[in-house]
Formats: sequence, structure tokens, C-alpha cells
Amino acid sequence: MIRCNDVQEQAQDLTEAFFEQWRNVLSAGDFILGEEVTRFETWLSGRCNGAHVVSMNSGTDALILAMRAVGVSAGDEVITCANTFIATVGAIVAVGAYPVLADVEEDELISLQTIEPLLSDRTKAVVTVHLRGRPVDMVPITAACRARDIAVIEDCAQAIGTLIEGRQVGTFGDAAAFSFHPLKTLGGLGDGGALVTTSTKIAEYARGLRNHGLRSRDEAFSFGLNTRLDALQAVALNIKTEYLDLWLQRRRAIATYYDAVLADTATGSDLGRGKAGSAYYHYVVRSQRRNELQQYLAHKGIQAAVHYPTPIHCQRAWLDSRSAVALPVTERLAKEILTLPCHPHLSDSDVEKIAVAIRDFDLK
Ligand SMILES: Cc1ncc(COP(=O)(O)O)c(C=O)c1O
Repeated sequence: MIRCNDVQEQAQDLTEAFFEQWRNVLSAGDFILGEEVTRFETWLSGRCNGAHVVSMNSGTDALILAMRAVGVSAGDEVITCANTFIATVGAIVAVGAYPVLADVEEDELISLQTIEPLLSDRTKAVVTVHLRGRPVDMVPITAACRARDIAVIEDCAQAIGTLIEGRQVGTFGDAAAFSFHPLKTLGGLGDGGALVTTSTKIAEYARGLRNHGLRSRDEAFSFGLNTRLDALQAVALNIKTEYLDLWLQRRRAIATYYDAVLADTATGSDLGRGKAGSAYYHYVVRSQRRNELQQYLAHKGIQAAVHYPTPIHCQRAWLDSRSAVALPVTERLAKEILTLPCHPHLSDSDVEKIAVAIRDFDLK
């Protein structure tokens, strides 16, 4: 089976290197924070234009602390999209705020046009999700939000390597959350995340809050969380960072190939096609016969997935506690989207096989 992700291969290729480096951590007994964690934060800061990086134990916690750090609290409204992983909206709910869901453009991303009608005096923040590693058009959104004193948080969970005019996303807003979940382009061997910000104040606040709100061993300035990145995870991530650019290059090359070969098919190419700077965490096509296409590919030994079949406002969690929302583009796309395998462990022949299968399906 050609799989939709390379979670096993990413770990297996580097097993020896992990064990070799872990021995140092084991002998130093340096399990919480420490040198390896600082090294990882320094690396990510380098990718993010020298911004502050506060590593954590998940992207979800980074979103929660980003929200707290910019002052979102109970009763505030926070605007985001519904076609995202549940954690984006879960983090808003976790700080007691009210999620306001915006529809998206045909490229699956929110834009100033889709959020503008929802901005109000109650809006405290906007969370832009760089879904699939595609960059949201940040400049008009941040300009509109700054003019209204609304904070902007970037959900960069899927967006390591995503660029806007050559600059890594994550420093266009007030704060950003990255995820290093094993399925991500740069994935650990368990959970991991980071908050990125250009604000010293936000960074200091988040750094304290990730460690129980402690300023020193015995002095707490606020009630916080225990959400530190493990040293053993940091070791794995530090090893993988050396391969990231190669992996991104391969993802882009596969995407370029699909774009060329699928452009004239009924299924078509990536929904974000033509958008510069995508890191192709997902390569997503669209078909009105989506379920049939997915089954056809499975029959040919190709795993394709749907991210995400149920938008947040159609989830039980939303329906049981909130009023109904109509998001026509989001709802239509959810029925048609299909994520094709697009990761660095695919061979050229895998990629060709996938493209041929889609072309054959379209002729049926
Ligand atoms: C868009 C998005 N936001 C947030 C998250 C949450 O990240 P984590 O799983 O590290 O908590 C994820 C990851 O799965 C995600 O894809």
C-alpha cells in the first residue's frame, strides 16, 4: 500500500541516530527542558526571522497560551475557520472564549473578505489557519485587525516551511502555534509544539505559563500549565531538522509533478495551485465522486485520506452546545476533497502510479 503519510519511515530511517543521542540525555539526566530543548528553540527561531520561540508539549497548548498571552478571556469572540483540525477551535473554547466561524475561499483558506463581516466590538482575536501548509493572505488580515485592535494568531501546525514572500509564516501575526506531532512535516516521536512571537512580553508570559506560571522555583506570577517539550523529543526533532529542507524540496517536487499531470483531468490538481509558498503538508484534489475515487485508489493500493470530512460546525461537540452556522463553501468542499500521498518517502514510480490511477479514474 502506498500510504498517505510517512510517519513510520521518518522514525525508522533515523533510529540509530536517535538512540545514539538519547544516551547523552540519559547519562546527563537532563530530561526536562535543558540543552536539547534550547537548541531546538534556537533552530526554530532562526527559521522564523529571529523571533522568540517557546517550545511546548503540543500545538494545542501553544494555541491556548497564545490566546491567553494576547489577552483572550471568557466571553470574548475569536474568529477562525471550520475546516481545520478540531484543536484550533478546541483551544478557543479552552480559554472560555466564543469561536465565530468564517467561511473560506475556494483554496480552503480564510481571507479578509470571509472574516470582515464577522469582525465586531466583541472580537478579541482572529486565528488564521495555514491549512495544508498553504499560506493565508496575512498582510490584509493583519492590517484590518491592527486597525481595530484585534490580535492575530497564526495556526502554523501544518505550516513549517510555508512562506510568504520568502518568509516563514508565524511572525505575521502577534503569536503563532506550531505542532511537531509525529504526522507533521517535521514530527517528533510523540507530541510537541511551540509558540512563536516577535513580542518579548508575549514570549515571557508564555515561557512562565508553560511551567506552572513559575517565575522561579517557588514564585508563581499566574496559574499556568505543565507543557514543556521533553528533552528526548527535542533530541529527535534536532536530528530531523537537518533533513527538513530536503523533505520540503521533495514535497514541492511531487506537487509540481501532480500539478502538471493532473491539470487537464476532471479531478484536477491541488486546490491551492498557483499559491506561492505552500509547503504541501497536504496535496488536495477535488472530485464530485470523491468517495468512489478514494475507493478506486485503495483498490489500486493507494491510500488517500479526507482532511477533514466533518467541519467543526457539523461536529457533535458544536451542535450540542452552539447555534447553527451556515458555511456553504466549507460544507461543499468537505464533500469533495481528497488528500493524495505527497511526502518525501514516495518514490518516483509511486507518484507516477498515483497520477495514472487518477487519470484512469477520470476516464471511467
Ligand atoms: C491545524 C491544526 N491546528 C492545531 C493542531 C494541534 O496540534 P497538536 O496535535 O500538536 O496539539 C493540529 C495538529 O494536529 C492541526 O493540524
